Amino acid sequence: MTEQEFIPPSYTKTIENGKVSWESPSNIALVKYWGKKADQIPENPSISFTLNDCKTITMLKFSKKNDELFSFDVFLDGEKQNAFKPKIETFFKRIEVYLPFLKSFHFTIETKNTFPHSSGIASSASGMSALALCLMSVEKQLLPDMDEAYFNKKASFLARLGSGSACRSIEGDLVVWGKHNDIEGSSDLFGFKYPYKVHENFKNFQDTILLVDKGQKQVSSTVGHNLMYNHPFALQRFKQAHTNLGKLMPILETGDLKAFTDLVESEALTLHAMMMTSMPYFILMKPNTLEIINKIWAFGNETGLPVCFTLDAGANVHVLYPESVTEQVLEFVKNELVVYCENRQYICDKIGFGAKQL
Ligand code: DP6
Repeated sequence: MTEQEFIPPSYTKTIENGKVSWESPSNIALVKYWGKKADQIPENPSISFTLNDCKTITMLKFSKKNDELFSFDVFLDGEKQNAFKPKIETFFKRIEVYLPFLKSFHFTIETKNTFPHSSGIASSASGMSALALCLMSVEKQLLPDMDEAYFNKKASFLARLGSGSACRSIEGDLVVWGKHNDIEGSSDLFGFKYPYKVHENFKNFQDTILLVDKGQKQVSSTVGHNLMYNHPFALQRFKQAHTNLGKLMPILETGDLKAFTDLVESEALTLHAMMMTSMPYFILMKPNTLEIINKIWAFGNETGLPVCFTLDAGANVHVLYPESVTEQVLEFVKNELVVYCENRQYICDKIGFGAKQL
């Protein structure tokens, strides 16, 4: 599939106004996307668990207008957010060729997140995917014959143009994005549901997110990705991500939780190693991030229970474990890890199945 296939034919219907709503989840990468070319074409393939409870709910109202300008207002939790407008305007400009109706309507975008406002959890994946889905619902009204597979693929394609990892939030439970030779149908242009066998061990997998630092991100993801240009280890890293995704496939099939832990933790630390070895360099982990990692290792060694961590581009820690050990792990979190969380806050989430129209 190429970009051309997302340029629609002439619309068969006309509409004057309406409203559509979607809720779309966040996701957590197991093999990380870090490094991109223009328009969020990833330097390497990635795979993520879609989350269930951390999500954005967006309502898009639209009414016909006559001028040739982009026109929209954005509200977060009922309050007008002009600070979001430049990012959305850039997004609209990028996707206009694929959604030629964009200048025909004034849009009101009303959005809210289910996770705490400043939790350090990226809302760009859930936010951009929810917006892309709403826009696709408008296009579906203009082209009612569109089928669901194309709808989802194009929603993911558009979400990617807003924020790369957002393309992995449309479906669940495991989503691959980026061309990988062993995964048929994988593409740099959109995310799609992992097509092969996944062991029972990964059904209902749990993700407890420990909020170590709820502040604003120290490095925006775009700045972060750009650090991979001229990075001394970039090519090796991109190659490693291909290898790791290839290694993850039999692990997902056989349910080997030990091998899963080794691969996922190594990916998380490699992501941070890339930031520590770029120029300029950053340390996004906090002392409490390291305390938590060491506690998780000690707990795993003492109990033999399968529990591992991953990180995104920040200090928070995602604790991953199968549903069967939930009780023991949550006890451990409460007894030993909450002390390292800002205001003792953490979020219990689990693997989910993608966005829903409301
Ligand atoms: C560390 O998708 O937020 O979470 O494409 O610039 O919007 P942009 O970046 P973004 O990057 C996410 C990076 C990551 C790893 C991952 O989710 O794969």
